[in-house]
Amino acid sequence: MPQRPNWQINRPIEYPYEAPPPARQVAYVFDVNKCIACQTCTIACKTAWTSGKGQETTFFNNVESKPYGGYPLAWDSRLLDEVGPARWKDRNLVSLTIFETDGPKNPPHGWRPTFEDYSSPNLGEDDLSGPVERGEEIGPTHPHWMFYLARICNHCDNPACVAACPRKAVYKRDEDGIVLVDQERCRGYRECVRACPYKKVFFNTIARASEKCIGCFPRVEQGEVALCVESCIGKIRMHGFRTTVGAPREDNPLDYIVRIRQLALPLYPQFGTGPNVFYVPPVHVPDGFLEQVFGPGVEEAKDLYRNLRAPENRKLLGALLLFGATNRIIDRFDVQGDEAVGWDLTGTEVARVPFTEPSYVRAPFEKDLGVYRLNTT
Ligand code: SF4
Ligand code: SF4
Ligand code: F3S
Repeated sequence: MPQRPNWQINRPIEYPYEAPPPARQVAYVFDVNKCIACQTCTIACKTAWTSGKGQETTFFNNVESKPYGGYPLAWDSRLLDEVGPARWKDRNLVSLTIFETDGPKNPPHGWRPTFEDYSSPNLGEDDLSGPVERGEEIGPTHPHWMFYLARICNHCDNPACVAACPRKAVYKRDEDGIVLVDQERCRGYRECVRACPYKKVFFNTIARASEKCIGCFPRVEQGEVALCVESCIGKIRMHGFRTTVGAPREDNPLDYIVRIRQLALPLYPQFGTGPNVFYVPPVHVPDGFLEQVFGPGVEEAKDLYRNLRAPENRKLLGALLLFGATNRIIDRFDVQGDEAVGWDLTGTEVARVPFTEPSYVRAPFEKDLGVYRLNTT
């Protein structure tokens, strides 16, 4: 069984395929602190890709409330119950990944949800981590907490769905690392559904084949971000390419945020698939919970986020300002004076965002229109 390096857990894993990393790898940063669970992303995705027959409960993008929400039901807690909590020594994973739990000759450890598990996508929405007693009020600390976790397929470095399919119907594209199901080859074995620890492969009972997030590849091929990213009201998302070969680039916003400054962390890195959606952890949630969800580095990432206005973090803040600023994939960014600037893959400037929003004071009475203003700023 070939071994593959996994930078997220600081050690190699057993993976059934030997394949070089893709020339480019799509990656995303989601700032959990800014998500308002409006579900605009969910609907943008659903309307575009999964509005057909047999796709009624398919959500390539979903937003769930943690700690209790999850779609499909208990997708993560059930697997964690089976494989046990992650154990880390410094930044090295000591416990076993899903590829190792059942031994290298067996498929990745997983489970297959039932129809009922998909029937309540928003169960647990807005539920707090504990009950709020009558008369309790919010103080300087949050005794109870929750946060919104937006989820899509992670287009993993070592996809469990690819490893599990006996038909080799799931594949990872070399040009961008997007993971797709070949609908012609698929025979509906659903081993991919069982294996994906994030439960982001869905079985279509009408088409009798599995379907998954296609990474909006027709848009990516034109240099545009995914629909869930473009439509995000909270501007919590950045979509681009991560450097896979050689050193991470200082001028690549994904590399800078994820690898160089380590502000954003992978989701359940202990599963071993090398997910490519990275999350800025929610600063109000206890470290103990977050470390099981995002791995080591939570405390440092939260400190960095709280300290973004410090002069030494100006470039990092500039990268964050570019979230939601353009529908083009930003390949290169810089800070110029009081502005963060982004260029697309063709080298064209596509975003320029000021650090301080200009404010305009208007006259209380507009002579040309003959109207009074109530709010003049
Ligand atoms: Fe496959 Fe699941 Fe990883 Fe997506 S998140 S690439 S479906 S293993
Ligand atoms: Fe959160 Fe953005 Fe989706 Fe709204 S559109 S739920 S803010 S990720
Ligand atoms: Fe393979 Fe999954 Fe289809 S295991 S055959 S891609 S249902």
